[in-house]
Amino acid sequence: MRNAIETCDLRKVYRRRREPDLLALEGLDLQVREGDIFGFIGPNGAGKSTMIKILVGLVRSTSGQARLFGEPCGTPAARRHLGYLPETAVYHEFMAVGELLEVHARLAGVLPGERKVRCQEALEVVRLEDRSRTRLRELSKGMRQRFGIAQALIGRPPLLILDEPTSGLDPLAQLDVKDIILRLKAQGITIFFSSHQLTDVELICDQIGILHRGRMLRCGNLRELLEDSAGIEIRFRGGPAEIPGHEVLEQESDRVVRVSREESDTLVDRLRGAGAHLVGLQVARRTLEQAFFEITRDAGEVEER
Ligand SMILES: Nc1ncnc2c1ncn2[C@@H]1O[C@H](COP(=O)(O)OP(=O)(O)O)[C@@H](O)[C@H]1O
Ligand SMILES: [Mg+2]
Repeated sequence: MRNAIETCDLRKVYRRRREPDLLALEGLDLQVREGDIFGFIGPNGAGKSTMIKILVGLVRSTSGQARLFGEPCGTPAARRHLGYLPETAVYHEFMAVGELLEVHARLAGVLPGERKVRCQEALEVVRLEDRSRTRLRELSKGMRQRFGIAQALIGRPPLLILDEPTSGLDPLAQLDVKDIILRLKAQGITIFFSSHQLTDVELICDQIGILHRGRMLRCGNLRELLEDSAGIEIRFRGGPAEIPGHEVLEQESDRVVRVSREESDTLVDRLRGAGAHLVGLQVARRTLEQAFFEITRDAGEVEER
């Protein structure tokens, strides 16, 4: 299977006037397979939008390579494969939904005779087909975001790049966006999106990348990410009620302590040596949120938020 997105040792340094240079991306290697949903997560300021803007050709990388379906990012050939929803989109508020979408169809190079059908098709995907005559300024936030996705879809691209598509939406509107993403995947479209909704990312993504201070701390499928950071839960009776450096939880008549895989052997030996009776040993399950906190905490605090 082809890679929809491929980057190699991608770096971005922002040169600033009165302040020192800012290293926004540091040696990013990434592969997104065709047909996958890729979730890009990371604290504010991690470099997600910078990465996305390089992929869509709005920002030039300082060094390294980035390709969409084999074509260098920023070239017309790469752009033809791509639909993009920016983090904050500004629209012509006085225009009607159908009217503005036709402008986007023209910009995307859709032939005149085909524009009406394409607009109808895109509006159906985002369930705005009965809003064609509504002015942009009258749309709710959720509808605006769905309009943004319709706009990105108008050229029937095989790849969609969405920068925080659910940010600022209420839970129901978030669900709408998530449903749309899943339906597009079912049509074979590759979707790369950034998000702070970790539960959604956990549910719908095939691959997840965790970016922190311009570095990809982890990248893989959910199982890999969670296993990687999962510890071992040791359940015992008797023995010590306190273990230096660890939190011991009392659960009914058991005591439970979570440790890393590296520490588990030694700790079990120590507990048994101290008279504890081992009751259970299992891989401690993590949610993506817990793993995210741990992974980013280990990598150090972020100064700016
Ligand atoms: N045009 C720019 N000029 C200078 N610094 C920028 C510019 N755009 C972003 N940055 C800085 O680059 C870092 C990454 O920003 P960004 O890519 O927007 O992160 P994210 O989308 O993950 O929040 C931040 O420290 C931000 O302040
Ligand atoms: Mg951003």
